[in-house]
Amino acid sequence: MNTIIEPFRIKSVEPLRHTTPEERQGYLEQAGYNLFLIEARHILIDLLTDSGTNAMSTAQWAAIMRGDESYAGSESFFRLKRVADELTGFRHMVPTHQGRAAERILFTVMCKPGQVVPSNTHFDTTRANIEFTGARAVDLPIPEAADTQAHVDFKGNMDVAALESLVASEGAARIPLVMLTVTNNSGGGQPVSMANIEAVKRVCAQHGIPFYLDACRFAENAWFIREREPGYADWTPKRIAQKMFSLADGCTFSAKKDAFANIGGFLCSNDDRVAQQETNLLILTEGFPTYGGLAGRDLEAIAVGLEEILEPDYLRYRIVSTGYLGRHIADRGVPIVEPPGGHAIYIDAARMLPHIPPRQFPGQALAVELYRHAGIRSVEIGSVMFGDAARHELLRLAIPRRVYTQSHIDYVVEAILEVNARKQQICGMEIVEEPPFLRHFSARFRPHP
Ligand code: F0G
Repeated sequence: MNTIIEPFRIKSVEPLRHTTPEERQGYLEQAGYNLFLIEARHILIDLLTDSGTNAMSTAQWAAIMRGDESYAGSESFFRLKRVADELTGFRHMVPTHQGRAAERILFTVMCKPGQVVPSNTHFDTTRANIEFTGARAVDLPIPEAADTQAHVDFKGNMDVAALESLVASEGAARIPLVMLTVTNNSGGGQPVSMANIEAVKRVCAQHGIPFYLDACRFAENAWFIREREPGYADWTPKRIAQKMFSLADGCTFSAKKDAFANIGGFLCSNDDRVAQQETNLLILTEGFPTYGGLAGRDLEAIAVGLEEILEPDYLRYRIVSTGYLGRHIADRGVPIVEPPGGHAIYIDAARMLPHIPPRQFPGQALAVELYRHAGIRSVEIGSVMFGDAARHELLRLAIPRRVYTQSHIDYVVEAILEVNARKQQICGMEIVEEPPFLRHFSARFRPHP
């Protein structure tokens, strides 16, 4: 059988509410054409993010009922710790309320003003948290990543030669740690190969620089390694993930992605001294080390989710269904970041809408049109989000885990193809109001005259 079915059945459902194009035009005007400012009940298919939007399993909901809400020494913490320890092998783990809390604690402990933190590509909260300490966040993607149309198996890799020259020019003492984001979200949801993780590890070890994973989508990355990297075809995703973690000195993790949770995260480290400082800061800002800003029930959901996410049937379906959306639009002429990533499809809006210059935000224009046409919410990743630093004008369609069925995705495909058929009529946008930073969340727009 070739049909890949959703490897779950549905026990509890949430209604979706249809709206008319006229109603959606009204919501757009009220929201200043910013989809972050539209109420979720006015969205039909929400592809804004795959973060915290997962559907939990019956086993997760059952575990939630046994959540131990003790302030100190909660059983739920030890359950999560056992699962995380077995998976990651790191000496220390503290829970945090989400990924960026782990980042803030890690960088506050490790970074000083004037230092440099390289990554394949930093996610925006990672970059912001590094820069908040006065250090500089540097992206070192491989050169092929610049071409959205290049088909490369591990397009999320770090440019190891660029890392070596950065270490040579800055000096190892100015690099408090090296990060690798798996999968590379800002780089199109593209995976990182085991060989690349090993090569980065070698450079770090040679210079005594700690090496951390931003492990948000570690399971999707492990599946890509199994499928594409010679030597791993008969490894379980879990064994691949264990090897990935074994090469690092620590990790940050957002459980809102590859742990099927709606909230949560953790921070791991092998360094006793760093871990002690992290724990001190955790108590100050998150909570006691056995709950770290979460309820006991959240710790339970994460513990169960971390095991479910590594099921081969799930990961096969996950990667095939994301690819299904990508192929069905790309093969009919919609330019996407090739090849399809793990958690999202990114449309190259600059290439699709060449009549809209970057300063008129082609990604935002496309996001608005897709909502107006079909009630689908996506997110611009381009000049609205990054200003002049934007490398591409992308529209991200992120797929929540286990939430939408194939017919939902077929609807998305149909809507995108219909919008693509009359793309010449889409006009650019201009900003009428914006905050001083992270403007994409609250800026207001209007159609360019
Ligand atoms: N690192 C990566 C690679 C991420 O994608 C995210 C979040 C974070 C860190 C921060 O984690 O949200 O739990 O604080 N990404 C979401 C997204 C928001 O839509 O891509 P968080």
